[in-house]
Amino acid sequence: MRVAFIAAECEPWAKTGGLGDVVDALARALGRIPDGPAGLVDVFLPRYRSVPIPPQAKEAGEIDVPDPASAEGSAAVRVLEAETHGYRLRLIDHPAAFDRPEIYGYDDDVWRFGLFSRAALEVLRRDAVPPDVLHIHDWHSCASAVFRDTFYASDPGLGRAALLLTIHNLAYQGWTPREAFPQLGLPPNDRSVAPDPAGLDLLWAGIVRSELVNTVSPGFAAEALTRRGGFGLDPALRWKGDRFFGILNGLDTEVWNPATDADIPATYDRADRSGKAICRSNVLSELGLDPDDPGPVLGVIGRLDHQKGFDILAEAADRVILGGARLIVLGSGDPTIASQLRGVARGWPDLVAFVEKFDRALARRIYAGSDVFVMPSRFEPCGQGQMIAMRYGTPPIVHRTGGLRDTVVDETSNVGHGTGFVFDRPTPESLVDAVTRATAMFPGGDGATSPEWEGLQDRAMAVDFDWERSSAPAYMAAYRRAVEIRRAGLEAGPRARPRAPLPRPG
Ligand code: GLC
Repeated sequence: MRVAFIAAECEPWAKTGGLGDVVDALARALGRIPDGPAGLVDVFLPRYRSVPIPPQAKEAGEIDVPDPASAEGSAAVRVLEAETHGYRLRLIDHPAAFDRPEIYGYDDDVWRFGLFSRAALEVLRRDAVPPDVLHIHDWHSCASAVFRDTFYASDPGLGRAALLLTIHNLAYQGWTPREAFPQLGLPPNDRSVAPDPAGLDLLWAGIVRSELVNTVSPGFAAEALTRRGGFGLDPALRWKGDRFFGILNGLDTEVWNPATDADIPATYDRADRSGKAICRSNVLSELGLDPDDPGPVLGVIGRLDHQKGFDILAEAADRVILGGARLIVLGSGDPTIASQLRGVARGWPDLVAFVEKFDRALARRIYAGSDVFVMPSRFEPCGQGQMIAMRYGTPPIVHRTGGLRDTVVDETSNVGHGTGFVFDRPTPESLVDAVTRATAMFPGGDGATSPEWEGLQDRAMAVDFDWERSSAPAYMAAYRRAVEIRRAGLEAGPRARPRAPLPRPG
């Protein structure tokens, strides 16, 4: 079983969100489990300007990749390779597409990621051993699915490769209007690849063409099948039947470990949590709050945007503070939400700290030093913050959605069995209610303890999210099944795809 990932992010080389963490952690875990893939997993990644080239990287030559945007019809693409972190990183270097300040957000993103996908396939086509599975992630690599079926169907290697598409974010779909089809090498009047008269939704194409499709939690998979939660793609996902499912992400338990974390002032573990109190008073002092404050300290970390529900938090903040809690927020993003949060911090200078940036080390000190972690996401395919918080003995308060509801057990409705607090609606009232429940149970941050709170922390820390335990083996099983479906499908001839244009997002 040879597996190749094609992805737009992979930590530590390129990351804007959870996608980067998961691509790296899964590739590594697959290399470590028994019955994993043969040889190293390949991870294809664009060489963005910001990618630090690993010292052991080798030039793997230059190849000509069909490029509809170039006058010559092809682009010279350099490939750099490095065996590192337990996988083979294969960087696609084409400065015209990737030597830019940002990773995403350009008018020609369809061309950029189309070229990236095509280059990955061209590299794989030249390999001595072809891949059995192309594991593509989010819309950025979905052109690979179109290309496999249109340009490589009769290639002895790639034509037989099975596709698994993992959807980390259903809201971004790579919408490509007809006039942009030439960027992918498709004629604008094509109807066989793009039945919709207006254009092609690349994520839709990936869904209908991949042998298997998954998203990153069973809870979100169920929501994605509904009109409310499907972002316009629920008909395509329903059409997949049992070929669409959820596999819960793991957590990298080496990267996230309070017993070895070099960025926190005192380490601790499940058996001895005394270091956590030091982390608490430290982070409070660092951020200008009272280190001996007895109120529960709520930590909040992430991209400030509508999905993450930071506006819900901002609206709830006054009531949360009046109820006795303290707030630490770390994150940047949406300017409106940022100014809302700045207003909250100005109103409560001694009780609220808002740090408007992305700071990896401070994030770790907040996970360790907070009493409770808050994640009010409107929707969340999986989420990582709640898992990190649990591992750091910081019970999370989460909205009952997607991966959050799959990972956190509500203490209020399961007294003595919970790992955090869950609230039902993405509203300030519902969030305030959960904070009130947590505050009522919290014994006080000035050294007081209670068996109830200790039990809650202990259960949270005991949850095992290790990639190697269940997620990575589940992906292996999905690869095997995808290969079987591909082989059977090639024998049986093409399966009819939905012909009617499916509703487009938004
Ligand atoms: C996206 C989702 C997040 C998920 C991550 C990794 O960022 O929004 O919920 O954890 O991908 O799969």
